[in-house]
Amino acid sequence: MTINKITVVGAGVMGRGIAYVSAQAGFETTLVDVSLEQLNNAIEEMRKLAKKAISKGKLSESEVSVLFSNLHTSLDLVDAIKETEYVIEAVPEKRDLKKSVLETIDQYAPKHIVIASNTSTISPTELGSYTKRPEQVAAMHFFNPVHRMRLIEIVKGLETNAETVSIIREVAEKMGKETVEVNEFPGFVTSRISAMVGNEAFYMLQEGVATAEDIDKAIKLGLNYPMGPLELGDLVGLDTRLNNLKYLHETLGEKFRPAPLLEQYVKAGRLGRKTGRGVYDYTNNGERVNK
Ligand SMILES: NC(=O)c1ccc[n+]([C@@H]2O[C@H](COP(=O)([O-])OP(=O)(O)OC[C@H]3O[C@@H](n4cnc5c(N)ncnc54)[C@H](O)[C@@H]3O)[C@@H](O)[C@H]2O)c1
Repeated sequence: MTINKITVVGAGVMGRGIAYVSAQAGFETTLVDVSLEQLNNAIEEMRKLAKKAISKGKLSESEVSVLFSNLHTSLDLVDAIKETEYVIEAVPEKRDLKKSVLETIDQYAPKHIVIASNTSTISPTELGSYTKRPEQVAAMHFFNPVHRMRLIEIVKGLETNAETVSIIREVAEKMGKETVEVNEFPGFVTSRISAMVGNEAFYMLQEGVATAEDIDKAIKLGLNYPMGPLELGDLVGLDTRLNNLKYLHETLGEKFRPAPLLEQYVKAGRLGRKTGRGVYDYTNNGERVNK
């Protein structure tokens, strides 16, 4: 089955990145959100990204114009999915919200199509159970920033069938990504490790083990990670990180209890790059102030 049309639901940090690579790969892509402001920000950010890609010689002017001609936005989920061929759900990591969005998608999207969720942690079996087509539901887990990160984790639920996995792999490959196939377990492979390391770094910061800069520097230069766990948290979004940890704490136990300092940052609205402040300060036009 050839997929030409993709709908991405949620235009936040991830949805906009997914829509960008989808449109670039030649899929007619509709990006949906409940917030016009988020859709406008998403388009603005994609334009900046495309401009940078042109200046670095990664994309030509004509490739960028094809990319944007493939890209549409919508505030009307039902309308955006009624003739779609593939859906990627990228709304916040909250079970009740995912449930209601997946129920709507299931009700109005064509019955034969795959529904892929960009969830970082939640069981695809559970996500599938919110629909009447659990065999056509799986997690398609992208990484941030989507245009740069090469991996997609494909996570099967109990009922996910082989055809669904093969369709997701085909879409991923057309987007230029590598895939791994993972059996369902909370946090899959990557989120479980990333949440654990990120949470531990927050505990260290809270305990005064070192400054944020030195924790990140130690992990980068000493352990050869490309990014420090605290700067990565700011990129991911500290609210998203906290939601992931809460789910892993609930499902895998005490070792994932979120650091109180992380909870405090989220309460204060310090969510990372997207709000201008997290562990670090990005109020200088999105650039980090205290490098
Ligand atoms: N941030 C990351 O680095 C990262 C990485 C991999 C996976 N994920 C996962 O991707 C998903 C999205 O995360 P994010 O960081 O992009 O979140 P985000 O908060 O940046 O964006 C979510 C978007 O969904 C929109 N939304 C909320 N309710 C909606 C609805 N009913 N219909 C349509 N849109 C709606 C919001 O307005 C917002 O624009 C989560 O499941 C998260 O765990 C995040």
